[in-house]
Amino acid sequence: MELYLDTANLEEIREIAAWGVLSGVTTNPTLVAKEFSARGERLTSEGLAQHLRAICEAAQGPVSAEVTALEAPAMVEEGRRLAAIHPNIVVKLPTTEEGLKACKRLSSEGIRVNMTLIFSANQALLAARAGAAYVSPFLGRVDDISWDGGELLREIVELFQVQDLPAKVIAASIRHPRHVTEAALLGADIATMPHAVFKQLLKHPLTDLGLKRFMEDWEKVKP
Ligand code: E4P
Repeated sequence: MELYLDTANLEEIREIAAWGVLSGVTTNPTLVAKEFSARGERLTSEGLAQHLRAICEAAQGPVSAEVTALEAPAMVEEGRRLAAIHPNIVVKLPTTEEGLKACKRLSSEGIRVNMTLIFSANQALLAARAGAAYVSPFLGRVDDISWDGGELLREIVELFQVQDLPAKVIAASIRHPRHVTEAALLGADIATMPHAVFKQLLKHPLTDLGLKRFMEDWEKVKP
């Protein structure tokens, strides 16, 4: 399973990319808005394009950028503009009627699409039939309403296997490290997670303690 960062923050992307384990990045309008407001910068089309280009350079892998239009023709226009920014851009579309129409169109033009806001196996099936390269079920948001995000992911992974659908499954809306383990065991192709969860994957108190002891013992005898 590949590991993606779910962020629009360049420092976070550069830090994790340096570990050598980052395969891509997903963004969404909330994450982009957060990033620009944190910097006190007004969002312009050119500013966004520059920022996405920098993310693509830092990530060295697919970068999902979401459209904000809600009607298919405008989604297609916006998707084409986003895709033209960098060859690594994957256009993210919401799983709605208009999103499906736009997905079909953009995919037929060779533009990779990530269908987002997926909360049922049938939505994932529709997205795959519309030519999506990626589908993104939201595990955490399903868990938030006391349903089972893992069960949703299990169904989608199995459905895509049984039906031999080529779309990749991105386990999204990851809230904690257990979600990542669960997604990997269930056969997700990718898990996309916030920077904090990425850091939690690595951290273990026994690793820190063990290293501290090794170093103390070594200090006593080192040449
Ligand atoms: C996926 O691509 C989305 O950006 C993301 O995972 C949403 O997660 P959230 O529920 O933490 O906002």
